[in-house]
Amino acid sequence: MRTRTQIGIVGAGPAGLLLSHLLALRGIDSVLIETRSREYCEARQRAGVLEAGSVRLLREVGLAGRLDRQGIEHGGIYLQFAGERRHLDFRELTGRTVTVYAQTEVVKDLIARRIADAGEAAIQFSVTDTSVTRLETDTPVLRYTSEDGVQYEVSCDAIAGCDGFHGICRPAIPASELTVVERGYPYAWLGILADIPPSTDELIYAHHRRGFALHSLRGPTTSRLYLQVDPDEDIANWPDDRIWAELSERFALPGWDLKPGPVLDKNITPMRSFVSAPMRHGRLFLAGDAAHIVPPTGAKGLNLALADVAHLAPALDGLVRGQPDKADAYSATCLDRVWRSTHFSWWMTTMLHRTPGADDMEAQLQLAQLRYVTSSRAAATSLAENYTGLPLP
Ligand code: FAD
Ligand code: DHB
Repeated sequence: MRTRTQIGIVGAGPAGLLLSHLLALRGIDSVLIETRSREYCEARQRAGVLEAGSVRLLREVGLAGRLDRQGIEHGGIYLQFAGERRHLDFRELTGRTVTVYAQTEVVKDLIARRIADAGEAAIQFSVTDTSVTRLETDTPVLRYTSEDGVQYEVSCDAIAGCDGFHGICRPAIPASELTVVERGYPYAWLGILADIPPSTDELIYAHHRRGFALHSLRGPTTSRLYLQVDPDEDIANWPDDRIWAELSERFALPGWDLKPGPVLDKNITPMRSFVSAPMRHGRLFLAGDAAHIVPPTGAKGLNLALADVAHLAPALDGLVRGQPDKADAYSATCLDRVWRSTHFSWWMTTMLHRTPGADDMEAQLQLAQLRYVTSSRAAATSLAENYTGLPLP
């Protein structure tokens, strides 16, 4: 079936969902397609920390009802190293805070709102055979087969590739047109979701000779914890008891106990830095993980995806109305923030993780840096400014 829309959007993660809402607010039609089911998208455990600018953006566009009730505002983090736990007070250092609110909840809120505003057809879940073509023309084409087996060919004014790192949009750009800068890390994160009240009031990032650990949370009764493991580690080697024992050791502090509880979900995530530029080819615009990946230390991935589409919505609005200036500036505008976050995420990651086989020089340099960021106001402010995030448009 042949149809037409203004903007074709590939991928119903945070980037694609928020973009379809921002475009609707501007009176622009879109078709949003997603290969996974709604249930899968709403259950996929990922990030949990929203920058101040992300919260403000979601509030401004009417998406913060539940976020304002259930999100937990944090004024800082703890950095733990060499047997000490030190607090960094973001509120005092920068006047800004972050909010703990799971990506699953952001995604649920966005899906519910799109369906309330535009009906069940607003998002086509469980589609197959997706492709994007005619990208160098003014009428790029999005093709897919719907869940009930109908083949669609959608003629668009522009296409937004919001389909994550493994999507089809970035590979649709000729390789000769892209510059890819990439680094893998020799470690991964084993993450658990646990049915137990958090043992801490704010997140703990722990440096330990056995490897990094992070204590985060999802609410008053749910904890989220991460453990550095080898990149080729098999989750089957990590029964719940072993995970809790390892976490207890890495967070150990006299007079403080980590409370273990039932594990609801566990997975292993590889870590990489990846930036592909430019974020535009003809009338295809990439946003979020489709264009860049950061290692999770520092909680930037989700925030970058939201920031990209905050720039992309006005850019596409201008493009469809014959004013291409913002669309022409889109890639360079986003890449500034992307590279700042790429640097910050790399810096946090290398300060806190243990490289397998590293000599004592690595540990001593890390400890010197950790002492510096927890004792110099200038260094602490730099971390706080990056963690709480740059302002959005
Ligand atoms: P995604 O959320 O990946 O959404 C892309 C969507 O496109 C998906 O729903 C996918 O199914 C869909 N799709 C793919 N191909 C197609 C296709 N051909 N057609 C249609 N749809 C398609 N960040 C943090 O800050 N902290 C974390 O702890 C953290 N943990 C993570 C754990 C994992 C396993 C992963 C993969 C990422 C994690 N991230 C984390 C990163 C963060 O979750 C991402 O940066 C964020 O999801 C990016 O949003 P997005 O919308 O760009 O992409
Ligand atoms: C979470 C993830 C992160 O990568 C991080 O730096 C902080 C918190 C989380 O999932 O809660």
